[in-house]
Amino acid sequence: MKIQYPARERLANLPTPLQPLDKISERFSLPHGGPKIWIKRDDLTESAMSGNKLRKLEFIIAEARARGCNTLITCGGEQSNHCRATALAAAKVGLKAHLILRQGRSDAAGVPDGNLLVDYLAGAEVSIYPLREYLDSLPQLFEHWSAYYEQQGDRALCIPTGGSDGLGIWGYLLGTEELLADCKAAGFAPDSVVCASGSGGTQAGLTLGCQLFESGAEVTGYAVCDDAEYFVNKVAADVQDWADRYRQSFTLDENRIHVIDDYIGPGYAIATEEIYQTIALAAQLEGILLDPVYTGKAFHGMLQDIQRGHYAGCQNLVFMHTGGQFGIFPQRSGFQKSWSPAQSG
Ligand SMILES: Cc1ncc(COP(=O)(O)O)c(C=O)c1O
Repeated sequence: MKIQYPARERLANLPTPLQPLDKISERFSLPHGGPKIWIKRDDLTESAMSGNKLRKLEFIIAEARARGCNTLITCGGEQSNHCRATALAAAKVGLKAHLILRQGRSDAAGVPDGNLLVDYLAGAEVSIYPLREYLDSLPQLFEHWSAYYEQQGDRALCIPTGGSDGLGIWGYLLGTEELLADCKAAGFAPDSVVCASGSGGTQAGLTLGCQLFESGAEVTGYAVCDDAEYFVNKVAADVQDWADRYRQSFTLDENRIHVIDDYIGPGYAIATEEIYQTIALAAQLEGILLDPVYTGKAFHGMLQDIQRGHYAGCQNLVFMHTGGQFGIFPQRSGFQKSWSPAQSG
């Protein structure tokens, strides 16, 4: 199916590579009757701006320009990859960025490290709010800062959490088209696509994309917060928002929204020893760097589920590496037991 994309600001290095994870497949999947595992390297969309958010920001920034905005306001956790990518992308294209951040829970809250350090380096305005205030008054905080910029003679575009809505979804519609072409060039059609779900937009774009482009691949999101019901609804809502805004008549098959919420662990951004070990293992076996908040949890969950037979019948599975490496550094203490050579699994 040919679709008409809206305007896009080119920021990402596309297409990103699709690579086989031979050692991990041979060790953790094929002996259990599981699929060959591939990885789509969206951690390589850019260096500093890396990750999935840049695909969404290409469409969001084009929209900001079309609306005559000179400022981007967005929100997220103190270590938000989305906020960091927004800060850098805004700097690159000559827009201001204002980040509304939710204070972290750890002792290191407010310490300029990882993504937060990059936010400051990129020259973003940063407002950090205590958890309760952030949760209770996020819409008001957006209104407050929009009005503030309006009074200065600026015009702001407000971007929702993770850039996930009917606009941001275009990023992973295009991403799905790219992925299906990569797979075709590599000689296979994917049976399964796996991603981490934090605000649901990546999963929404992949799910819609696989259906629109008539791929038989089933998309599974591994929740890193909230629960499966939340993400099923969020994916459906983002797709509906897209259909309403862009007058699309396509109806999503909601029975094909798959979410697994078994690997969130103690909570959002809190990893356990096994997650740190999986991250070390992927680095040691394949030279890829996952993160403890999103991709490490999703990858770990996927390997567990493969070994439990959840993906039986799949021949080729693609894991979307959505980035997040800067999130490793503020959690450096969690990796202490992982500095030894490759774990035996
Ligand atoms: C590195 C990384 N991976 C995955 C996700 C999840 O993507 P989404 O917010 O589109 O669900 C995020 C952001 O939330 C992220 O920063």
